[in-house]
Amino acid sequence: MFVQKNRRIIIALKDCFQMIKLTDQHGQKHTLDAVEGWRVMEIIREHGFIQGICDGICECATCHVYVDKPWISKLYPAHDEELELLDVLPDSEENSRLCCQIIYDENLHGLSLTIADVA
Ligand code: FES
Repeated sequence: MFVQKNRRIIIALKDCFQMIKLTDQHGQKHTLDAVEGWRVMEIIREHGFIQGICDGICECATCHVYVDKPWISKLYPAHDEELELLDVLPDSEENSRLCCQIIYDENLHGLSLTIADVA
């Protein structure tokens, strides 16, 4: 009975815990607490890793990240405005995204990203 109850509590806590895996500009790996409904940029900025200068209106590219390949298909595709800004970045790659355009939800638990050098 005791073990079963604790197991249910552990499962419930696991369901509540949301996180992003982030590699910073120096190659250091971090696990960040994430909040559903927040822009991924806001989550990373809240932890002090990026500036997000334009506050998510797709104008500054200080939120440029590389999405680890297994996660690309789980994200909504970039819209035209985001693609246009990514196109002018010198270090843009196939897996580049502006993380202000990604809204975190439970399906992104464990999302793995690397901050681009320009961020
Ligand atoms: S925060 Fe400026 S483009 Fe994303």
